[in-house]
Amino acid sequence: MDTSREIMESHRQTLKRVTLLSLGRYHISEEYGFLLQNPLKELPEQYRPWMEIASELPHLIESHQLRAHVYKMPLLDCRFLKSHREQRLAHLVLAAITMGFVWQEGETQPPKVLPRTLAIPFAEVSRKLGLPPILVHSDLVLTNWTKRNPEGPWEISNLETIVSFPGGESLQAFVLVTVLVEKAAAPGIKALVQGVEALLQHNRDTLLQALQQLRLSIQDMTKALAQMHDYVDPDIFYTVIRIFLSGWKDNPAMPEGLVYEGVATEPLRYSGGSAAQSSVLQAFDEFLGIQHCKGGVDFLHRMRDYMPPSHKAFLEDLHSAPSLRDYVLTSGAGCCLMAYNQCVEALAQLRSYHINVVARYIISAASRARSKMPSHPLPHALEDRGTGGTAVLSFLKSVREKTMETTLNPNA
Ligand code: HEM
Repeated sequence: MDTSREIMESHRQTLKRVTLLSLGRYHISEEYGFLLQNPLKELPEQYRPWMEIASELPHLIESHQLRAHVYKMPLLDCRFLKSHREQRLAHLVLAAITMGFVWQEGETQPPKVLPRTLAIPFAEVSRKLGLPPILVHSDLVLTNWTKRNPEGPWEISNLETIVSFPGGESLQAFVLVTVLVEKAAAPGIKALVQGVEALLQHNRDTLLQALQQLRLSIQDMTKALAQMHDYVDPDIFYTVIRIFLSGWKDNPAMPEGLVYEGVATEPLRYSGGSAAQSSVLQAFDEFLGIQHCKGGVDFLHRMRDYMPPSHKAFLEDLHSAPSLRDYVLTSGAGCCLMAYNQCVEALAQLRSYHINVVARYIISAASRARSKMPSHPLPHALEDRGTGGTAVLSFLKSVREKTMETTLNPNA
């Protein structure tokens, strides 16, 4: 093959790969983005023992009965979980029971061993899905929503979770506001795929439209995130909800990790659930060519191992797509440069807004909790760390700075 044919061929291969991004092959939909479309609410009949516990989870945890129920659970075979949606619900259910089991008594003396009747099927369904055996964003948010009235609007009042934790309405809203943020991102994900196609075809008008749509979508995500303040009480989030998202990696309350009985003899360590495991912002970063500092990249890339493998593959394929930033820099299309900068700015604003949310729900709430219970030793072990295990504010600020630094100078 001569060089030009090779270039054409590689161009065709990239085009093929990137076009496939839009075909649902990655469990991404134009309408729902990364949210699972129509998540199931029930498992096949033989899994009733799991569903009975999951449906009572807040009560069983609050009344300190969950562990006793888990010890009585029969060992069930995962073979009858046939469809992807069944497996996703099973992962959500087993993950939620696991978090409740571990944190039922708070951070004091968490168990060292997850019993085999829970650990074996959880590891098995995790293996099938390519997810780690712990609660992840794709469980708590992407798989954990249903519309009360299917024809009704995408509003908190018309949504409910499938599995819940203690924390009442604040818990529900914490999950559902995040669902709404993911939903608001869906047109942005669609625009991003159109943008990559426009780049491949050197179609400036389509690229411009895609960038404008992406900016709108990012701004809608910020508006959706703002609802956190309307529905989620910071003190309930900090003192009741947050612990159920905590993992057993870099967590001083469980320094050794957790033994999954019947799965591995050595304890395993996994990070807790965090929206840092959402693929949305990482997809936007890839498309816009935003490069984070080494520590930030290491953490964000590690979070990809907590995403469904098809979503992780989407991010990797986006990474090898043609560079939007190079095109904007070299094409001399001033309108595209402006639209690009507006996307970067909208993303930096979303990240600033998110930092304010974190300051209110973690930093301020932690200091209030401390002043109420100055002698309480353990619950604050994680106070300045995210559930994913980061030193929160410095990490988030660095991610925002790197986003802002990506802005292009129109006169360069
Ligand atoms: C009460 C609400 C929220 C709190 C307290 C919160 C807290 C945090 C924390 C502590 C981190 C640092 C990583 C870690 O250790 O977990 C983080 C990262 C992150 N969060 Fe949130 N979060 C909230 C809502 C959301 C929502 C609704 C989204 C949207 C999907 C989101 C998206 C992200 C992303 C993408 C990161 C990674 C950093 C970045 O790319 O900017 N968060 N969050």
